[in-house]
Amino acid sequence: MIMVKKNLTTDDGLLSLLSGSDDEALFAEARRIREEIYGDAVYLRGLIEFTNYCKNNCCYCGIRAGNAKLPRYRLDKETILDRCRLGYSLGFMTFVLQGGEDPYFDGPKGDDRLCDIVSAIHDEFPDCAITLSVGERSRESYKRLRDAGARRYLLRQEAASAELYRRLHPAEMLPENRLRCLYDLKDLGYQVGAGLMVGVPGQSLEHLLEDLKFMQKLQPDMIGIGPYLQHADTPLGKLEDSAEQRRDRLQLTLRLLAILRLLFPYALIPSTTALASIDPAGRTLGLRAGANVVMPNLSPATVRDKYTIYENKLSSGAEAAEQKLALEQIVSGAGYQIVSDIGDVKRG
Ligand code: 5AD
Repeated sequence: MIMVKKNLTTDDGLLSLLSGSDDEALFAEARRIREEIYGDAVYLRGLIEFTNYCKNNCCYCGIRAGNAKLPRYRLDKETILDRCRLGYSLGFMTFVLQGGEDPYFDGPKGDDRLCDIVSAIHDEFPDCAITLSVGERSRESYKRLRDAGARRYLLRQEAASAELYRRLHPAEMLPENRLRCLYDLKDLGYQVGAGLMVGVPGQSLEHLLEDLKFMQKLQPDMIGIGPYLQHADTPLGKLEDSAEQRRDRLQLTLRLLAILRLLFPYALIPSTTALASIDPAGRTLGLRAGANVVMPNLSPATVRDKYTIYENKLSSGAEAAEQKLALEQIVSGAGYQIVSDIGDVKRG
């Protein structure tokens, strides 16, 4: 324990934790801190993947514009509201609207459309939180959405290192704009979620260290991390990827999660779908490494197999909002309890 704490304070110590010097002590300490602050509560978020249209061509992502094989869909306001009604009846008090950077929601007209959806949810469920995850937008747009009732925003930095960021994204996507967005969101009073994929090709432990330092500056309220998973219809999806590499990515994700819990004791950190997708025990392992949020899929069943950011993405069983009992069993098996609560970040 003492070694773990000491390692958190230096670059070499963090690199040593990331390379697996002391996993069991690391996870135990992460659980201790999470329980000290959040007890055994696990917060529930209903994830509505409302559009898989995207104008971007990120090298890792299966819903990239260039993937002509993917059937595209966009949910209308009534369908989204219906999913919120179902979620509310199941005890969900946060709705996460996630989508690609869909041109239909671009510009002032697009803002009108998105604000209309947000304010309809806000009017009908005033006791719930609306979280948006719709990528890079102008400050003005973020402000309008905040005024319409959005309270949280998820935008992973993906890579704090500008050099790695550029390698993973098309030339039009600038690392400095990503950071501008995150700081604008904070400034506008959103609870902000940052994060990254672990084990994306070209990422080293030093890159992860840069991400940790960036997040220490940003001080996000929420941090989403999951293992990178391949999608064949992407430039990175053609690389060789063995079962052993996937095992290593799972383990590295768990280490980073535990380190994040210790560096950000108050953060809301989900045990992500990507963790559950890479290993049947992934979600449990995430909870045992310090995660305190679960985000099952609340999209209509008819579109779930179309939001394929990576292959073999789980959306059934405990990943499906309707199967809350299955999820409750997993969470209680890990030693925690799902609570029906808006689950805002606690502050130190
Ligand atoms: N593997 C794992 N995570 C991915 N994401 C996008 N593509 C992949 C992939 N191939 C993550 C990104 C994005 C979040 C919504 O999903 O980090 O921010």
